[in-house]
Amino acid sequence: MSDTAFHPVARVGEIPVGGSKVCEVAGRIVAVFNDGQRYHAIDDLCPHMGASLGSGPMTEGMVTCPWHAWRFRLEDGSWCDNPNLKVEVFEVRVSGDVIEAKVTPPPA
Ligand code: FES
Repeated sequence: MSDTAFHPVARVGEIPVGGSKVCEVAGRIVAVFNDGQRYHAIDDLCPHMGASLGSGPMTEGMVTCPWHAWRFRLEDGSWCDNPNLKVEVFEVRVSGDVIEAKVTPPPA
């Protein structure tokens, strides 16, 4: 695993429990969530019509898209109605007081 793929996305304490932050990382728009146990980072773009998933409410490990209420599991990015459809999930680590996500550039 290359450390160079990890990018800072927030500081510890910046995202409240139950909250999220959207940021641009490595040419991607990434939504970072704090579920109170750990942080999750997923592709911010809803695969339905492109809403920002990071602005949707999070409950019980799922985020609900603010436009048409599709729900996605933060653990693996799967759509709750059909797990074959997924949003990309990025590995997260905490390094000191910095939250980092392993974000690869968008496909060409
Ligand atoms: S844009 Fe997300 S459910 Fe429609």
